[in-house]
Amino acid sequence: MAVKQMLICHKRKTPIFAIKSNPMTEKEFIPSHYTQTADNGSFEWSAPSNIALVKYWGKKENQVPANPSISFTLKDCKTITKLAFERKANNDAFSFDLLFEGQPKESFHPKIGKFFERIEAYLPFLRDYHFTIDTQNTFPHSSGIASSASGMAALAVNLMSLEKALNPSITDEYFYQKASFLARLGSGSACRSVKGSVVIWGGHAGTPDSSDLYGIPFGEVHETFRNYQDTILLVDRGEKQVSSTIGHELMHGHPFAQQRFAQAHENLTAIKNILAMGDLDGFIKIVESEALTLHSMMMTSQPYFILMKPNTLEIINRIWKFRAETGTPICFTLDAGANVHVLYPENVAVKVFEFIKNELVGYCQNSQYICDAIGAGAESIG
Ligand code: PMV
Repeated sequence: MAVKQMLICHKRKTPIFAIKSNPMTEKEFIPSHYTQTADNGSFEWSAPSNIALVKYWGKKENQVPANPSISFTLKDCKTITKLAFERKANNDAFSFDLLFEGQPKESFHPKIGKFFERIEAYLPFLRDYHFTIDTQNTFPHSSGIASSASGMAALAVNLMSLEKALNPSITDEYFYQKASFLARLGSGSACRSVKGSVVIWGGHAGTPDSSDLYGIPFGEVHETFRNYQDTILLVDRGEKQVSSTIGHELMHGHPFAQQRFAQAHENLTAIKNILAMGDLDGFIKIVESEALTLHSMMMTSQPYFILMKPNTLEIINRIWKFRAETGTPICFTLDAGANVHVLYPENVAVKVFEFIKNELVGYCQNSQYICDAIGAGAESIG
């Protein structure tokens, strides 16, 4: 039996059992000085999208999640961002150009400007440079796959590369933790797109070093879940009627919020064990329940809304039927939209793919789907 670390709480004079944890604080992400200068140059990184298994839905101020979450990092759905920087004469204001797929994209400016404002305290050099942010996604435009997670993660790692050029002594651990911390300030779930195949974000009693401020890789994953497959069925490629930002807000005063947050803690405890043991049945139960709970929060908020489409439900029913008839360990999850992520182990991929092609693709808009699998996080390209 594993021996738990015993911490003695002197004030209460009673022993409490806990796992030691030592997460970074916000202050530790404020640099005290830089040892180098850099006048101009560029970096290039890719960062992937991620799909949550235990969902983050509801937040406090400063992108602090109301409950912890865990996700699979994707491999092929990613954003590739080149960040060029050039020192400017004054440091009056932020200055950047933004190119999306090679074309200027004015509509992204407010989001990046806001991001820079939020992270300036942690990257005090931001006003010293003019930046050119040249970005593209590997997944199709308007596919209903949010690019905010991969996009903010890719920008955050690029900015950390610049910080590392100014202070080469920073460790890899600090680099990635701070990149995740910065990405979170751009778009909450982006902090789970920086490093690791399975990432936990949000303080959780049973997870040493877990933090509300950044994601941490979860390493104890059984080989059953290695190279797990995610086929994303594009059911509706349109704009969502209700944004995630509004959805998160509607968890304030939601009648079921407290029970939901408590459930997420419990499900995270359970799924960590399931992932470590390779328990496919347990995995399916939690992942599908989490997806439906997420959408039931939307349906029971005030105002209420529905992001699933009739074809989302058709697909879910087909998956359940196929699983019952064949015993194949396939399941679904959903993010905040109508698309369905079909999750399955690599060793049943041929059979499942046949099923998807024959029975599910007909429910996709223009028969479109994306084949992806678990990846490892952001990658430096140059
Ligand atoms: O990071 P946001 O604000 O786009 O919220 C993401 C919310 C979900 O995708 C629905 C769940 C999650 O944990 O990723």
